[in-house]
Amino acid sequence: MILGIESTAHTFGLGIVENGKVIANAKDTYTTNSGGIIPIEAARHHKNVSEEVYSKFLQEAKIKGSEIDAIAFSQGPGLAPCLIEGIKFAKELSRKLNKPLIPVNHCIAHLEVGKITGAKDPVMLYASGANTQVIAYASEKYRIFGETLDIGIGNFIDTFARYLGMGFPGGPKIEKLALESKNYIELPYKVKGMDIALSGILTNLKQKVESGKFRREDLAYSMQETVFAMLVEVSERAMAHIGKKELLLGGGVGCNKRLQEMARIMCEERDAKFFVPDNSLLTDNGAMIAFAGEIMFKSGIKFSPNKLNKLDIKPRQRTDEVEVTWR
Ligand SMILES: Nc1ncnc2c1ncn2[C@@H]1O[C@H](COP(=O)(O)OP(=O)(O)OP(=O)(O)O)[C@@H](O)[C@H]1O
Ligand SMILES: [Mg+2]
Repeated sequence: MILGIESTAHTFGLGIVENGKVIANAKDTYTTNSGGIIPIEAARHHKNVSEEVYSKFLQEAKIKGSEIDAIAFSQGPGLAPCLIEGIKFAKELSRKLNKPLIPVNHCIAHLEVGKITGAKDPVMLYASGANTQVIAYASEKYRIFGETLDIGIGNFIDTFARYLGMGFPGGPKIEKLALESKNYIELPYKVKGMDIALSGILTNLKQKVESGKFRREDLAYSMQETVFAMLVEVSERAMAHIGKKELLLGGGVGCNKRLQEMARIMCEERDAKFFVPDNSLLTDNGAMIAFAGEIMFKSGIKFSPNKLNKLDIKPRQRTDEVEVTWR
């Protein structure tokens, strides 16, 4: 049994995986009524809830700490103060239970857990808060074929929601609002090869909100239609370029039903398979860390409790820096 600990941003999550099956998955997420994430406050949140989430989690899963074989934790990328709380918690637990630690790259965990859906060798559209990348496996690494040139899609949507006076996370609220409109307002469309750019569209949306001339639901609808079309376009280009016949959606924005629909239509049109995991595995969670951690552990990656000083956080680690020795 592998325990996974997630703490890169807004969510403190714990999960247990055994032989590729999720046994338990629980989390406590920092949210706001208005304004975005303040890293120090998110970190304080993790520190305050960790012990309680842990004991409640084991109780509900009917698992004793001693049954855990190893502990996987999110090493990066993420907000440094949040990562520090995660690694501290992981190291304390490792010493207490006398079990090894497995350092997991958060983005690769979003990707690996997609295998639960049956995807074998997909192109992955990783659309989360801080990251927006089109990734596929090629010669020992998860390589990035396209990405945002400025901000992540989730942060983009959350900032737009903030202009409309909504708190964090804005994605689900915007999705609901968008359902109330079918009136498309033209917005800039920014695809550059396999990459996309979002900050200009955000400025344009801000001006439109401030002008007071547009209905909120029309802006929400038009924003989704525009940026999701951009995401699906670059995903399709990557699939054509690398010759892969599967698309896997990952990351919190992947919960969006309209994005799922557009991706599904694109795949049907080019005879490819479309996969999307359950919402509980799309947004940040501990089970995906445990899932990736188990695969790494089985390939021999682990740090025993007397080697913990070799482990530190990696706030800026990129997906294509990680040597994928376990595949
Ligand atoms: N239904 C939805 N529609 C659009 N966006 C959504 C929806 N549900 C959640 N989101 C967005 O998903 C994001 C959170 O996703 P996730 O937890 O994967 O990201 P993260 O951990 O912040 O980023 P990263 O994985 O890049 O570090 C938020 O920006 C949130 O608004
Ligand atoms: Mg994430």
